[in-house]
Amino acid sequence: MLLGMDRARRAFAPARFFENTNYNFRLKKPPAFGEVDALTPNIMAKPFNPSFATLEEMIATVENSYSNSLCFILVEENTRKNCMPHVVAMERLLAVSSSLQNAKIIEIPKGEKYKNLETFSGIIEQLSVNNAGRNSLLINLGGGVICDIGGFVAACYKRGIDFINVPTSLLAMVDAAHGGKTGVDFNNFKNQIGVFAPAEMVVVDVNFLKTLPDDQILSGFAEMIKMALIASDDFWSAIKQADLNKVRSLEPLIIESIQQKLQIVEEDPAEKSIRKILNFGHTFGHAFETFALENSRELLHGYAVAMGMLCELWLSEKMLNFDAAKRQEISEFILSRYPKFQIQTNDFERLFAILLQDKKNSTNKIKPVLLKKIGDAQYDLTCSKELCFGALQAYSTL
Ligand SMILES: NC(=O)c1ccc[n+]([C@@H]2O[C@H](COP(=O)([O-])OP(=O)(O)OC[C@H]3O[C@@H](n4cnc5c(N)ncnc54)[C@H](O)[C@@H]3O)[C@@H](O)[C@H]2O)c1
Ligand SMILES: [Zn+2]
Repeated sequence: MLLGMDRARRAFAPARFFENTNYNFRLKKPPAFGEVDALTPNIMAKPFNPSFATLEEMIATVENSYSNSLCFILVEENTRKNCMPHVVAMERLLAVSSSLQNAKIIEIPKGEKYKNLETFSGIIEQLSVNNAGRNSLLINLGGGVICDIGGFVAACYKRGIDFINVPTSLLAMVDAAHGGKTGVDFNNFKNQIGVFAPAEMVVVDVNFLKTLPDDQILSGFAEMIKMALIASDDFWSAIKQADLNKVRSLEPLIIESIQQKLQIVEEDPAEKSIRKILNFGHTFGHAFETFALENSRELLHGYAVAMGMLCELWLSEKMLNFDAAKRQEISEFILSRYPKFQIQTNDFERLFAILLQDKKNSTNKIKPVLLKKIGDAQYDLTCSKELCFGALQAYSTL
């Protein structure tokens, strides 16, 4: 199946988001990159769009729809310190929302290694001892870890309570907070336990990115590169111009990434077909991540995806005749920004074993998403052990 140019053009045509915006800035004309007007306050001026909103709109929604509910805010130490003050300041500015002012804070330790069942139980316990009921609201204030585990808790607690994602990392803003995938890791395997459960609302506010460390910006940017490569040449060209030192300048690209994801998810929410293309770079990326975890090596999710894309582009060239010069261009772009995750030839067997354990793959065959060209992603292709080794070999000599 393809994400062809028609789809890409549709995405670049006047988008619902820009015309009917609930977001707090407007473009002079629809999605032309880099033409952002000054921020325009838009407090409660437009109807609430459940999948995409401003912090102001979230506060208004809590005030209006959850005034009789107990509210909980899930944070970890970084987002409590860096992101809570922004929420509190906005609340003061609006001078509303008693439910939020009385919200109970639930703090978990930061980091992927706490995205597990133990932390899940701890959060459930906190909800329980604080008498959370079916009408309670959980606000997930944090990166992908908080959104994933918080969404999973909300989906399970008393068979489901409402939750709102407030992504604070770039990665969560463009990817993890949207699309309804929730869950935790299990026995070193990523996202082994989880459910699909859509948030009531996802807040997008780039102000949170001001305190995000550079390596985390880069990690989130990898998902934007992925999105551009599966979407269109136009988006890829815009990504190449991105200035990561000016987070505000990233706004149009962030929004375009979200739009692209939402469009795909809307078509295939349960990942039976086209949604699989969002996994470009992730088959090998997840294998690198698991391998890193097993060997106590540091590897951020986005960095792993960037490395995964290098492998999957090589496979794309071999299996689908992806243009060699384009692959070179993309590989150079990635390698000039991301440190290479070093592997040796004698790691290949273990990496292949991990690839086979991935829930997307089957006996002795793996199923990476590959590109025929930029904007033309294909899924459900199978790839032999020999080709996987070829990709790892080509990667290690890049
Ligand atoms: N559900 C999905 O569809 C989906 C998609 C992509 C990724 N994910 C998951 O997302 C997770 C990775 O997300 P992540 O990279 O956001 O990880 P994360 O949540 O661990 O956040 C990264 C780091 O940034 C810090 N941080 C977050 N916001 C900050 C801010 N505003 N200021 C300062 N520090 C801040 C965090 O404390 C953490 O140290 C992985 O578990 C991955 O599996 C899920
Ligand atoms: Zn990802």
